[in-house]
Amino acid sequence: MSNVSGTDNPLRDAQDRRLPRIAGPSGLVIFGVTGDLSRKKLMPAVYDLANRGLLPPGFSLIGFARRDWEDEDFAQVVHDAVKEHSRTTFREEVWQQLAQGMRFVPGEFHDDEAFETLRATIEELDKSRGTGGNFAFYLSVPPKFFPTVVSQLKKHGLSDVGPGSWRRAVIEKPFGHDLKSAQELNSVIHEVFRASSVFRIDHYLGKETVQNILALRFANTMFEPLWNRSYVDHVQITMAEDIGIGGRAGYYDGIGSARDVIQNHLLQLLALTAMEEPTSFDAKALVTEKLKVLNSVRLPKDLGKHTVRGQYAAGWQGGEKVPGYLDEEGIDPQSKTDTYAAIKLAIDNRRWAGVPFYLRTGKRLGRRVTEIAVVFQRAPHSPFDTTDTQELGENALVIRVQPDEGVTIRFGSKVPGTQMEIRDVTMDFAYGESFTESSPEAYERLILDVLLGDANLFPRHQEVERSWEILDPVEEYWDTHGKPEQYPAGTWGPQSADEMLARDGRIWRRP
Ligand code: BG6
Repeated sequence: MSNVSGTDNPLRDAQDRRLPRIAGPSGLVIFGVTGDLSRKKLMPAVYDLANRGLLPPGFSLIGFARRDWEDEDFAQVVHDAVKEHSRTTFREEVWQQLAQGMRFVPGEFHDDEAFETLRATIEELDKSRGTGGNFAFYLSVPPKFFPTVVSQLKKHGLSDVGPGSWRRAVIEKPFGHDLKSAQELNSVIHEVFRASSVFRIDHYLGKETVQNILALRFANTMFEPLWNRSYVDHVQITMAEDIGIGGRAGYYDGIGSARDVIQNHLLQLLALTAMEEPTSFDAKALVTEKLKVLNSVRLPKDLGKHTVRGQYAAGWQGGEKVPGYLDEEGIDPQSKTDTYAAIKLAIDNRRWAGVPFYLRTGKRLGRRVTEIAVVFQRAPHSPFDTTDTQELGENALVIRVQPDEGVTIRFGSKVPGTQMEIRDVTMDFAYGESFTESSPEAYERLILDVLLGDANLFPRHQEVERSWEILDPVEEYWDTHGKPEQYPAGTWGPQSADEMLARDGRIWRRP
């Protein structure tokens, strides 16, 4: 076989590409460090990266929040969060090294003095820990604070430094509430940071299984020939959660499931599933293709028939009685916020014309599962008796994003015996069986990418804005048409979601 890489040692080449990607001298500043996301995801991810040897020895972490804490108090909070939530084992020597670079800056976002302290803290760390002036500012705060924080960064000379160092902004979702607010946020951020220094987080893109969509499609030959309107009947993208809104009433009420996850995670999954092959895997080539397919997405005309929203009522989950959404703490008892949403989308291009993409998400559903099911058409002709194939469903390829990460292919097979009877069977690839390494958490991958300046897995502002443009008419329609339909917790959502597919002669998968 020829050596296409052009060197005379293909094995060495392969090994070289697997060299770990290690961040250079740098630090991270987290705004909103007392929040849930920070404690459950960001702090543990920083530790896991350090534990895997992917952070520089002088890596530093600065927390900024309205708390009367000293550095030691902050370090203790991080310590507890790491102990409780980190993926890798706790090692004292790794912790000690990391803890030496932890600083806390107390203050409010409009407080000039606090930002001056932040500047002094960064300068001190540059000297004592060799962070080289390279800092990423992670805005884990509600979007209404983005403008204040970024303008404070600019005002205090924190957003830009001379050549040889970098400053980056990391922006958590939700990125706005609709197209208009997203555009406003983008323009505020771009006044302060160059586009290449802005990293918008969609943590689904950091998931191994999501990155694998591209590997599956474009590193193989056997799937892509079928990946189009000639063979695919429809695609179902499901993100189901069994949890309720827990302590997140303040964030969730008034936002709802479609803004919370369809606008970002599910439309990104759709883009990766439906896009054309990018010319390479760099950020620019990826965004070009994702944007092209998002621009071809079209909402159906009759939104009353082709969208559904629901709200969970009391019910049973895992043997436990759970309250309905309106009875959750902090929720307005008149709230019309959706906790379930299903939307049918078309993609107006040559590959997908006539193939519906059904997206659905919900809280308090039957179980936690995220998957993309590509459901194929039935064979154009069957030489078998109908009774032989009555147990046969459609062929399907299911990308199991989580849990049970892997890929399943469902097809028909003869049942052993003297008769010709054909039934569905599955062929499974499971990450847990094929690979010994466990998958890193999405936030580990994404924080490392920020420190490396690698933007491949971050949506660009055009994608974010286009996604709002797709969702806005649905939200407007819902605002002016009635209320969400109640569904009992622990079930698979409102009945009208089943009816929506039944009208198309299809059914939702029960994963
Ligand atoms: C977040 C949403 O983006 O994703 C949450 O705001 C949701 O409502 C969460 O629970 C789910 O993430 P994961 O990685 O557990 O699927």
